[in-house]
Amino acid sequence: MDRTEAIIVLNEMLENKNLVRHCLAVEAIMRKLAIVMKQMHPELPEVEFDEDEWGLVGLLHDADYEVTNKDLQTHTDIIVSKLLEKGVSKRIINGILGHHELKKPNRENFLEKGIYAVDELSGLITACALVRPDKKLSSLSLESVMKKFRQKDFAAGALRHQILKCEDELGIPLEEFVSIALAAMQSISEELGL
Ligand SMILES: [Fe+2]
Repeated sequence: MDRTEAIIVLNEMLENKNLVRHCLAVEAIMRKLAIVMKQMHPELPEVEFDEDEWGLVGLLHDADYEVTNKDLQTHTDIIVSKLLEKGVSKRIINGILGHHELKKPNRENFLEKGIYAVDELSGLITACALVRPDKKLSSLSLESVMKKFRQKDFAAGALRHQILKCEDELGIPLEEFVSIALAAMQSISEELGL
């Protein structure tokens, strides 16, 4: 499956434009993270860090969020069966399952570990942008996101313990991880409407 086809699937399945934007944000961060992780792990085969694959996992991870009616027990079931029908690789399927602790509590590779932490961080960064006077990502600083990260009441739905997994599961210090994600989202700010 290529990106064009994935975008079609996404738009067919999601009506909520904010959810589509969330998927685009996660895609952008995942692509950037693949590059960073590849540089950190020259000893691993390059296929581990295929940007297109990481991007697809990001793009499609929440595609069935509306059709499963936000029910966490069934979330990912529909998109996974759709992708299996289309012959999408097991690595991508497992990557998508990787963001959902109920479906895949054991994250086995960096792709699965990456989506798990990125998913929540993208939500936190979006929330940080939305409380700025101009509601823009361009004026959002790393320091500001870090400060909001420590405010437990701010965007409490963006699970801090999940974001913090970047440190032990990916080997990336929190501040660096936030910086990577912020830059990735800023690079597509127009598409994100932020
Ligand atoms: Fe998500």
